[in-house]
Amino acid sequence: MKTFNYVVTNVLGIHARPAAMLAQACTNFKSAVVIEGNGEEAKGNDVLSILSLHAAKGTTLKLTITGEDEEEAMSKIQEVLKEVEPKDKPASILKVAFYGTKDYDRIFFSELSKDKGEGTYNVDITYFNSRLTSETAHLSVGFDAVCIFVNDEAPRPVVEELHKNGVKLILLRCAGFNNVDLDAAKECGITVLRVPAYSPYAVAEHAMTLIQAANRRINKAVNKVRDNNFSLNGLLGLDLHNKVAGIMGTGRIGQIMARICKGYGMTVLGWDAYPNKKLEEEGLLTYVTKEELLKRSDLISLHAPLIMGEGGTYHMINDEAINMMKDGVMLVNTSRGPLIDTDALIKGLRANKFHAVGLDVYEGEDGNVYTDHSDDMMQNSIVARLTTFPNLILTSHQAFFTREALQAIAAVTMENARNFNEGLEYGASEVK
Ligand SMILES: NC(=O)c1ccc[n+]([C@@H]2O[C@H](COP(=O)([O-])OP(=O)(O)OC[C@H]3O[C@@H](n4cnc5c(N)ncnc54)[C@H](O)[C@@H]3O)[C@@H](O)[C@H]2O)c1
Repeated sequence: MKTFNYVVTNVLGIHARPAAMLAQACTNFKSAVVIEGNGEEAKGNDVLSILSLHAAKGTTLKLTITGEDEEEAMSKIQEVLKEVEPKDKPASILKVAFYGTKDYDRIFFSELSKDKGEGTYNVDITYFNSRLTSETAHLSVGFDAVCIFVNDEAPRPVVEELHKNGVKLILLRCAGFNNVDLDAAKECGITVLRVPAYSPYAVAEHAMTLIQAANRRINKAVNKVRDNNFSLNGLLGLDLHNKVAGIMGTGRIGQIMARICKGYGMTVLGWDAYPNKKLEEEGLLTYVTKEELLKRSDLISLHAPLIMGEGGTYHMINDEAINMMKDGVMLVNTSRGPLIDTDALIKGLRANKFHAVGLDVYEGEDGNVYTDHSDDMMQNSIVARLTTFPNLILTSHQAFFTREALQAIAAVTMENARNFNEGLEYGASEVK
């Protein structure tokens, strides 16, 4: 166990930015961090809990760090506490139009944008419920930036309208950026920043959850038991142990999925336009051609970004790819819907090609995701068709949705806004 005292020297106390940075630092360690101050206790990995300490300038905080990596955690935390001292460079407040707001966005973003002034994020957010489309782009008049998510639409006409309205920055509160016309943004002088990595674990863990739920027919099993039906008919699954996993796209998320599959005792194959030799050297996976991966894998998990055009990934799972797969294959997509040609998938499902399919994303999902349509007539026939298959499980773009990921998304987005406002470096956040 490690403990140390820290006297808050920041004039604003432990305000949103230091709290977010502390929580981010603590999340990356196995050790538990407890912060005591003003007679209260906070969890180090929880930004809201840290803020609830109301630690003003002069407060003495006692930090206790317990766990196998406590030494490293303590030095990182001390580094962060040094870094959050206010700098005396004045900057004006950045006005942000936040599109497609959900209650869970407000939980973190409202707290982080509360403080104004030097050393803070210095961001003023106006929340709009509507997502960004050509119909709602006019709401951006008078804002410096728009903050958008995966289901917002920023093709050329929308980007040009944002530019006309005075917007200079698009803040993507997600990793993917296929919904923004980057050429148009460049021509309009609009900077595009994203959250390159928030929690690859959230997405990879959901990928395994989905495919295991489909493999072991969990939906059906739960409904049967609720119905007083304890027969096992129709629930037969497959062991993953000693099977072959094929990871298509071995970046941040794909690598974690490879490790999860390895943990199940699977042999892991990888395919990527830019193979990462280190993964092979450490014995995690073996790179093969796309064809070999499709032919040899029992479980195929998609983690490549959506790229249109020659050499891209649009419809990389089509009739031809499905024909190459083993009979009884399992397929999971937590990346982007258009990686799979839905008609080809449905044809394959009807022909009994797949033992199990897990989809967190699907073609044409934009009008559906994050919206309650339970009282509306169903408009999207893709959902209607896919949900009829007993071996397919569909979730609605929720792989990212963990507390750790939301906290990180808010912290990195606010840091991006601040870097833009203060003319600082963007690092990996910039999309060019
Ligand atoms: N469902 C969700 O909630 C959710 C959340 C976050 C990310 N995602 C999706 O997951 C995808 C992967 O995220 P990541 O953080 O691992 O990205 P990443 O950039 O770290 O990895 C992507 C990998 O794909 C490879 N790649 C690029 N172009 C390729 C091509 N044409 N053919 C084959 N491989 C190619 C890259 O070399 C890289 O290794 C994102 O693009 C995003 O679409 C989904």
